[in-house]
Amino acid sequence: MCVKLTQAILPVAGLGTRFLPWTKSVPKELLPVGNKPVIALLVDECLSVGIKDICFVISRGKESIPQFFYEDNELEEELERRGKKDLLSDLKRYNEVNFHVVYQEEQLGDGHAILQAADWVDSENVAVLFGDDLIVSDAGNGLQQMVQADRGPRTAVRKVMMSLQDVPKEDVSRYGIVEVKQSQGRLKEITSLVEKPTPEEAPSTLAIVGKFILPKSIFDVLPDVGAGHGGEIRLVDALISELGKTPIYGHVFEGKRFDVGTPEGYKETVQILG
Ligand code: UTP
Repeated sequence: MCVKLTQAILPVAGLGTRFLPWTKSVPKELLPVGNKPVIALLVDECLSVGIKDICFVISRGKESIPQFFYEDNELEEELERRGKKDLLSDLKRYNEVNFHVVYQEEQLGDGHAILQAADWVDSENVAVLFGDDLIVSDAGNGLQQMVQADRGPRTAVRKVMMSLQDVPKEDVSRYGIVEVKQSQGRLKEITSLVEKPTPEEAPSTLAIVGKFILPKSIFDVLPDVGAGHGGEIRLVDALISELGKTPIYGHVFEGKRFDVGTPEGYKETVQILG
């Protein structure tokens, strides 16, 4: 039996400074990849594992993100009239989904963003997908691979699962890096986490990618981790405080990761996927 996932949090409240001046008026999550905005690819990732309850964590001015998914009767009627069946069924998929919005009034970190959705979560486990990472593979998207990896006897109810990428040693200082106790193929049991280590300090070259399955209990931990680096409440600090208490696993994804959070990464994404 795998962990049953029904809810996902998509924290998209960041200011997107690396995309300024574009992000002055349009969120980077609405940048197009083909004819879809990046955020639709993340929502589709949730739908692909059966999640139909999605909470966007946004900041003021980013309301156009949830708006993209709201039912538009006039547009649907017009597409119907014009016989645009494919477009129509693509749009209608989102009518089946419950979208919820919470605000992060101040950008106090990724952990702080998730915390804003605490009252909304009513399932034992919740998927968290940050806006910058897309994984493309014949083995499935990022969340599909994590859910698949979750199957089997190792499943425990209060378990963290995260997506991992093997990065070049010289790049470890850009990521959170994990120390691995045991491996079962791509599935890794994690004993420690180090944020942005030097190549000499790094316990491995396995980097944390922005996709998680978290137990609800993380919301009890987050308020207590305090402000980490740069005054931010970071998810990685909450995970560090859970080491030894909650089993933490990672899955080294198959395929390619696209970083749509930087102009260079976005350019590559559009060249390959767009
Ligand atoms: P980033 O570190 O990429 O920040 O956040 P950003 O604001 O999106 O972009 P830059 O660095 O200014 O260019 C990673 C993810 O975490 C979310 C972001 O929206 C993005 O999905 N995030 C980060 C929040 O929702 N709130 C925060 O306080 C910080």
